[in-house]
Amino acid sequence: MKVWFVVLIAALSLAYAASTRPERAWPAYGGGAADNRYSALKQINTRNVGKLQVAWTYDTQDGSGDTQNQPIMIGGALFGVTPAHRIVAIDAATGKRKWQFDSGVKSSGPNRSVAYWAEDGEARIFADVQSFVYALNAKTGEVVKSFGHAGRIDLRDDLGREAAKQSWVITSPGIVYKDLLIVGGRNPEALPAPPGDIRAYDVRTGKLRWQFHTIPHPGEFGYETWPKDAWEYSGAANNWPGMAVDAQRGIVYVPTGSAATDFYGADRIGDDLFANTLLALKADTGERIWHFQAVKHDLWDRDFPSPPTLVTVKRNGKTVDAVAQASKQGWLYLFDRANGAPLFPIEYRKYPASTVPGEVTAETQGLPTKPAPYARQMLTAEMLTNRTPEAHHWAVEQFAKLQSGGQFVPLTVGQETVVFPGFDGGAEWGGSAFDPETGLYYVNANDVAWTSSLNPAPPARSRSAEQLYSANCASCHRADFAGQPPQFPSLLELRGKRTEQQVVTMIRQGGGRMASFPGLSAAEASALAQYVLTGDNKELASAGPATDARINQAYRFSGYHKWLDPDGYPAVATPWGTLNAINLNTGEYAWKIPLGEYPELAAKGLKDTGSENYGGPIVTAGGLVFIAATNFDKMFRAFDKRTGKLLWETTLPMAGNATPITYEVGGRQFVVIYATGGKSGRGGTSGGVYVAFALPAVK
Ligand code: HEC
Repeated sequence: MKVWFVVLIAALSLAYAASTRPERAWPAYGGGAADNRYSALKQINTRNVGKLQVAWTYDTQDGSGDTQNQPIMIGGALFGVTPAHRIVAIDAATGKRKWQFDSGVKSSGPNRSVAYWAEDGEARIFADVQSFVYALNAKTGEVVKSFGHAGRIDLRDDLGREAAKQSWVITSPGIVYKDLLIVGGRNPEALPAPPGDIRAYDVRTGKLRWQFHTIPHPGEFGYETWPKDAWEYSGAANNWPGMAVDAQRGIVYVPTGSAATDFYGADRIGDDLFANTLLALKADTGERIWHFQAVKHDLWDRDFPSPPTLVTVKRNGKTVDAVAQASKQGWLYLFDRANGAPLFPIEYRKYPASTVPGEVTAETQGLPTKPAPYARQMLTAEMLTNRTPEAHHWAVEQFAKLQSGGQFVPLTVGQETVVFPGFDGGAEWGGSAFDPETGLYYVNANDVAWTSSLNPAPPARSRSAEQLYSANCASCHRADFAGQPPQFPSLLELRGKRTEQQVVTMIRQGGGRMASFPGLSAAEASALAQYVLTGDNKELASAGPATDARINQAYRFSGYHKWLDPDGYPAVATPWGTLNAINLNTGEYAWKIPLGEYPELAAKGLKDTGSENYGGPIVTAGGLVFIAATNFDKMFRAFDKRTGKLLWETTLPMAGNATPITYEVGGRQFVVIYATGGKSGRGGTSGGVYVAFALPAVK
């Protein structure tokens, strides 16, 4: 009797210990500090994956939205985020809620995960809501009052600019290294915008420990790649997709996005270091070790959109620790982790100069010689849609009016230029996975074209609601309010449904892909809201002090125009989205397949078109790549990681626009995906349901 009892207790505590072991848990965004989205679990494998069933679901019932969340799982608890940015701890085996944290701050949009830190029996969750990082007790969800100001820090602080006027939203979690939480954030795409400084805070106290200026101050490396005062007025060059840490070497890898304003850079002439750069910083101090800038003086919004992936590859019989960085452009960059030496040579090629007054493009941009890009690079007349003869005919006519010259062709005034792959990649925030067993690297990509151009801006001094709208809102919602659904909603539908106050709140707080506009005065926000809701074009009595005179907005972006045919399908030939497996030892493709379908086209026989997809893959020792991501078919799929053969698929309640996780609790392996429908549009619903799959329980 006694012996059985001891055995039972031993087994239970072993099972508990096992679930906290890193190889059984999913302890951080990306699976761990290396961000390689790999799990050593193999209970679910190529032979039995076909038997997967829903083990539990957890419906957050907290509104709709594009949360893009990949939860973490440690110690038997899964920590997730609802569409309204409440933090939930869920029993990872049963799906029952343990606790919920509500900050009281109104929020929505991307919130890709939380961070976890534990020491000496204390465990904390770092949760992000807008510009705030909260420290929570991992067991209870209570705020740790001793952290920062009564439990939270505000990333609008410490930027050397007036905090209340800064727009900063943390969309990807900070990364924990020793007792530091290293964080970035999302900044506006147009000036005014804060500098995207990378900061490290003490996990216990919330005190700022180091800060790296992504727009260098006088005397700092790279300062001369900007106009002399840019560090005071320019902005962005921020890290929004997350980071990776090599804990042994003490190096944090930080990919950054473009500088603001995205598409016209007359006030930031120069290469603009450290925008569009992969930075390797000393994790203890924030000192730069090496860097690689993928796009000099970016004019195409070519942010590095994915977290880096730490990998180990074979080169000339030797093992090399490397870092892989995916891009929107479709190129994969691979560097020696220690010194930044490229593992495949980077060639600098010449690109055309801009014809827009005031603009000066970089003469060259560097591209790796290998691997080949995972998305098409130049749209030609032979690559137009063949979905129907009518759609093809339309595309041929329209294409003749566009400028299409491949990568790094500057936008012009008066003619739309093709951006291919589009503004949303190529790769995106879902990230990529790396399998240490095979050396294969998995990246999913969009493969559709977008277009845009520049227009002269109205004189900055005069201010009517219409001009404010044209300056701040039209790039996404279009001058006619029609937007570009599903990415950018039409504002026409708001009339009669939203109050002025609700629109003002949206302008003040932002949400989804929309940044907040703290620089607009109360009168301006209210005039804008009235203009949106009624079309009433108010003149604002006094313009007040215009934005910083050093900011040059002489030309404005005409908007993010996804190039769709009259029926709403991509106007380029298929595939419209792909999943790629690249052997990093050789730089060759192991396999490449279309990813996703449009159900209504598939029903008519047009299958395997691929579709736009947001959310990334994971790879397991069980021989599987799991990925959802596809916008329209709502599928969650498992592929054979070696061959790309589809082994299992299931329909989710909403599109799984997120990256899954896998873990083991109580001897059972689970795979969990957040179904949100965040990118579906086209009448699809959106919300937030965690769906857990496992093999049938042994009775
Ligand atoms: C960078 C692109 C972008 C810009 C610039 C932008 N928006 Fe938005 N806007 C969006 C997106 C994306 C959403 C959907 C947000 C979500 O996911 O919740 C949105 C949502 C909204 C909504 C809410 C719609 C609803 O259904 O409730 C309003 C109102 C709005 N925007 C007004 C504005 C105004 C006014 C401006 C200018 C001051 C502006 N937007 C600038 C992208 C943008």
